[in-house]
Amino acid sequence: MIPNGTLELSADPTGIAQAADLLRQGLLVAFPTETVYGLGGDARNGEAVANIYAAKGRPSFNPLIAHVASVEAAQRFVQWSDQAEALAHAFWPGPLTLVLPLRADHGVSSLVTAGLDTLAVRVPAHPTARAILTAFDGPVAAPSANPSGQISPTTADHVRAGLDGRIAAILNDGPCGVGLESTIVGLAGEPTLLRPGGVALDQIEHVLGTELHHHQPGGILTAPGQLQSHYAPDSPVRLEADQAQGDEVLLGFGALDCDLNLSPTGNLTEAAANLFAALHKLNDTGRPIAVSPIPSVGLGVAINDRLRRAAAPRDS
Ligand code: TXA
Ligand code: MG
Repeated sequence: MIPNGTLELSADPTGIAQAADLLRQGLLVAFPTETVYGLGGDARNGEAVANIYAAKGRPSFNPLIAHVASVEAAQRFVQWSDQAEALAHAFWPGPLTLVLPLRADHGVSSLVTAGLDTLAVRVPAHPTARAILTAFDGPVAAPSANPSGQISPTTADHVRAGLDGRIAAILNDGPCGVGLESTIVGLAGEPTLLRPGGVALDQIEHVLGTELHHHQPGGILTAPGQLQSHYAPDSPVRLEADQAQGDEVLLGFGALDCDLNLSPTGNLTEAAANLFAALHKLNDTGRPIAVSPIPSVGLGVAINDRLRRAAAPRDS
């Protein structure tokens, strides 16, 4: 527990300087990115990174993303390539994470990579995230700021509900705009999609001029979400539902009579931004959740990925 409780910082120069200061002390700060709130710690400080895993109760084989302020900063830690350059040029700052071979002199704690010889790096677009990274001037390891296996946080209240008393501070800057985690592309070998997310696949394939390989389920755990049940509400989740049955609350999409609608106009970007907040809200009702079909195009691929995990059989 944090002796004086979890501080709330605001998104102004004082709050940003405090956040950078706490990170320098090896403490943990939750901060907004354009995707979801991240739980940040100094990626070079093994103790800080160990505390991220502890605060989240996360299995230690799941490696973390290093957040940096710029392409130049990323290049200090990983071996850059033409494909990395093309994707970074097109999508950074933004909701794309690149997995690249580590440089020999990287200085990042092996707890961040979980012992892999690659590192996931991302330059977030959120102005407050960028301000913290610039003020801190180092790599910040940051998984989503939720207890492991639970729904990702898109507001500071979600973060507090899951991690209050377990982290030094939360920088509150309102809801996240994208609402889904970053797309993760592996570039250590053939370009591979490791997790669908905030940048749609066809955009990435367009820039690379080639199709992405897809992660093989059952292969080595090199990427996210191979833990089937993830992003899981406490209540059961039923997908592809036309209507609610029994006690269910219906989460809808498009023109539909339902309890909560991700986007009444059928806009996938709006639906992505609302997804996790909607799951948090329906979870609070304590009732089973039914979800109407969502088209698997563009950001719909990532939305359906998260929904399948929310609906998957639970480990415990
Ligand atoms: O949008 C996001 O990506 C958010 C915000 C906070 O930036 N972060 C996030 O982190 O979603 P996290 O830890 O919840 O998910 C990162 C995923 C993990 O599932 C992990 O398996 C994968 O990235 N990953 C990290 N390093 C990797 C590596 N070297 N190779 C393959 N996958 C890696
Ligand atoms: Mg997560």
